[in-house]
Amino acid sequence: MIIRNFRKILHGGDYNPDQWLHVPGVIDRDFELMGKAHCNTFSVGIFSWAQLEPEPDRFEFAWLDSIFERCGGSGKKIFLATPSASKPAWLAHFWPDSRRADRAGIRQWWGARQNSCFSSPGYRERVRIINRKLAERYAHHPALGGWHIGNEYHGECGCPLCRDKFHHFLRRRYGTLENLNQAYASAFWGHTFTDWDQVEPFDYSMDGAALDWWRFCTELIVDFFKMEIDAVREYSDAPVTTNMMGLFPTLDYWKFAPLCDFISDDCYPDWSGGDTEQEAARLSFRHDMHYAMLDKPFVMMESCPGVPNYMNRPALRRPGEFEREMLLALGHGADGTLYFQWRKSANNCEKFHGAVIGHDGSDQTAVFRRVASYGEKLERLGGLAGARKNPRIALIYDWESKWALEQCSFGGGEKCKQHDETILSHYRALWNRNMDIAVIDSGQDFTRYKLLAVPMLFLFKRGLAERLRKFAEQGGTVVATYLSGYVDESNRCFFGGNPGGPDGRALFGVWNEDLDTLPPEIPQSIRWKGKSYPVLDYAEILHLEGAEAEGVYTQDFYAGTPAVTRKRLGKGCLIYLGARTGMEFLNDFYGALLEETRIEPVLRGLPDSVRAERRTAHSSGDYYFLFNLSAHEQTVPLPFAMIDVWNCGMETESVILPPNGATVLHAERGPEK
Ligand code: GLA
Ligand code: ZN
Repeated sequence: MIIRNFRKILHGGDYNPDQWLHVPGVIDRDFELMGKAHCNTFSVGIFSWAQLEPEPDRFEFAWLDSIFERCGGSGKKIFLATPSASKPAWLAHFWPDSRRADRAGIRQWWGARQNSCFSSPGYRERVRIINRKLAERYAHHPALGGWHIGNEYHGECGCPLCRDKFHHFLRRRYGTLENLNQAYASAFWGHTFTDWDQVEPFDYSMDGAALDWWRFCTELIVDFFKMEIDAVREYSDAPVTTNMMGLFPTLDYWKFAPLCDFISDDCYPDWSGGDTEQEAARLSFRHDMHYAMLDKPFVMMESCPGVPNYMNRPALRRPGEFEREMLLALGHGADGTLYFQWRKSANNCEKFHGAVIGHDGSDQTAVFRRVASYGEKLERLGGLAGARKNPRIALIYDWESKWALEQCSFGGGEKCKQHDETILSHYRALWNRNMDIAVIDSGQDFTRYKLLAVPMLFLFKRGLAERLRKFAEQGGTVVATYLSGYVDESNRCFFGGNPGGPDGRALFGVWNEDLDTLPPEIPQSIRWKGKSYPVLDYAEILHLEGAEAEGVYTQDFYAGTPAVTRKRLGKGCLIYLGARTGMEFLNDFYGALLEETRIEPVLRGLPDSVRAERRTAHSSGDYYFLFNLSAHEQTVPLPFAMIDVWNCGMETESVILPPNGATVLHAERGPEK
């Protein structure tokens, strides 16, 4: 359960009553409509600091007291926000160093949001004070469901204090300057450092320092997050979270997860791009990551009931899309879906962002009606809260490796590297076959999985090769690819060859001599199991050192040399894909591997463009989620009879999914897994 003693699937959203305190009738109407929309949970106070503390140490809680009373009185819960995302003007005025500085060290103006310096002593102190006040006041209120700490933390600051903290971070990490100089190989371009202060975080030429800067930024924000939690914890033990942003590029969310009691995420897919399956796969990927972070249900803290205003061409949602998006989250392990936002603001940069209630204040809009209908149906899924997933396949997504790769200059630049797209393409090949997948980072325990996909893990952390070896020896199958194990944790190249230096080479039984970055005019392909597949962007020149070749290149001066290799080890094996291919190869390759490893999909025999997910509830059996990712009706035969809990509550052996439709089925006891 996300909220203690509240066994419900959470439904609600960002609620900003403080924007409406002086407009008669609005808040009354909100509570009337919340009931009609079957909403039970709201995140409140995210941007309310100026309303809660209009000047230093003068607090005004009456308005929030009344929201708590109303929620408590109607059985609703509040995720109370700490308001650090948006500091009041007085704070920036009295503590100017709370304003963030850019890379040139120039302070930004006050305004906008999420732009404070996480090192600023004044800002930290004022956050601590307001958090403690909130916690002291509401800790024991029955409507308090949990703490929404900050909002979408992110960013870097180039102020003297942050730079100084960065240099202390380096001291802790390297101990001596000599160690740092060696790790950075800083003799390059004469950068040998003779003082910690000389390490420039924004020097594009120093790959090690750039990687450490992003590591440091995460550490600083995690430290700030912890400070916020500690302040709240002085009075309250309600669960805490902070809302993440999926694959946000400059934060290592794996470091935030251990501080959270539950994971929450903000999710804004775009279904109008023309490739529904790709968008659904992208969304499924991040949900699988959020479930895996704490190995338990998470909350989709923000989603849009209409369409966000900032999208290029925000097409209105087509029938079915909204409910499918919500069920996609629940199917992948969410125990709640909330919206940004409950009511559209009257003015300013998000006034046209989709919301449950528009400026007309009506409950007659399509948006309101579908939210209300979804909310009503959610009440049929009471038994789903807390239901688990048990994936046997894991795929690695590692921010540090991504940062290292993106910082390095080689191989066609960003257009070719395509870190996220590559990892997603491996995910998609597995997802296409309706597999239950965990998305983990390279530091997590592998032992519970049978198959581990490790696409393009450019940075090998200390001990990784050993952990992969154990995993394979005990019967696991590892799939690694081109651009694996080029650098260590300081972005320094392995000495002794790729992948991963001598240890990695011995493990995979293969030596990657060089990388061919292919422009479209130079064709290449591989032959695998008698079929030929085109190679895109990258082909590594491989030599067997204990592995066998299962596929070879077919063209050019390296025709006939290994492209796909397999090293057998103990009860398992390690496969290395030397080249980037299109989806056709990945689909065939993983298809064969899944047969070989005998990992069962969630359901077999589904039509194209239909996907399934499963969650298992401790006491009440399995919930199967079906998603129609096409714009036409689909009939889905079921392998055994289930109850269509979402629509009719009747037992059925096949389901008709409308265009873009989705449903939830319940089976008392599924087949043996
Ligand atoms: C983010 C923020 C919200 C809002 C939405 C708009 O997720 O957390 O406050 O700005 O974006 O999509
Ligand atoms: Zn700073």
